[in-house]
Amino acid sequence: MMGSPRRSGNTAALVGEFADECARMGVEVQVISLYDRAVNPCLGCKACQDCFDGPGCVQDDDFEEIFSAMARSDGIVLATPIYAWYCTAPMKALLDRTIYAGMKRYGRERGPALLAGRRVASLVTCGYPAEKGADLWEEGLKRMCRHCGMEYMGMFCRRDRGGDEPFWDEEKARAVRDFAQALRLAIQVDGL
Ligand SMILES: Cc1cc2nc3c(=O)[nH]c(=O)nc-3n(C[C@H](O)[C@H](O)[C@H](O)COP(=O)(O)O)c2cc1C
Repeated sequence: MMGSPRRSGNTAALVGEFADECARMGVEVQVISLYDRAVNPCLGCKACQDCFDGPGCVQDDDFEEIFSAMARSDGIVLATPIYAWYCTAPMKALLDRTIYAGMKRYGRERGPALLAGRRVASLVTCGYPAEKGADLWEEGLKRMCRHCGMEYMGMFCRRDRGGDEPFWDEEKARAVRDFAQALRLAIQVDGL
């Protein structure tokens, strides 16, 4: 899931290199750019809690298609620049809708956790050093994964120092390729 509005920005650079490395490893990747899709904010109506075999959201937008893509996949990678110490608004809307539509625990009867067992990782860019810029996002993501029965695999974060300093360099390219390989290895070892 690509959650940056900037098509040629810092997060896009990480996503591009990560996806290329996955392709080189023979891993199929679908990049969904949330700024090109419509995922409205959750209405909190809880209608989804009465549907146990799918998301069951009352809103007619791109959420169900994106939810299905996540449900079909072995791994979900959430890529976002940090905005106000968390993810961008379209990514937050996706997570809000996912946590309710995917967890049938808030209605009259207790139902399934539809994304249980999915593996989740994150690619992040931020202005502050990672431990001060992306720490709250990572903590939120870890808790969401635990709550939804998903497996948190880790975060790759690089700082954008801004000014005249270019974000992209060979260190970041190599490191994000290494991250893709480490995730692949972890999933393979896990799958044995
Ligand atoms: C509206 C806005 C809010 C931001 N908020 C934060 C923040 O809270 N913490 C931080 O470390 N960086 C923050 N940043 C910096 C961005 O996360 C950083 O520049 C990032 O690399 C931009 O990625 P992009 O090129 O994909 O848009 C913010 C940037 C913008 C535009």
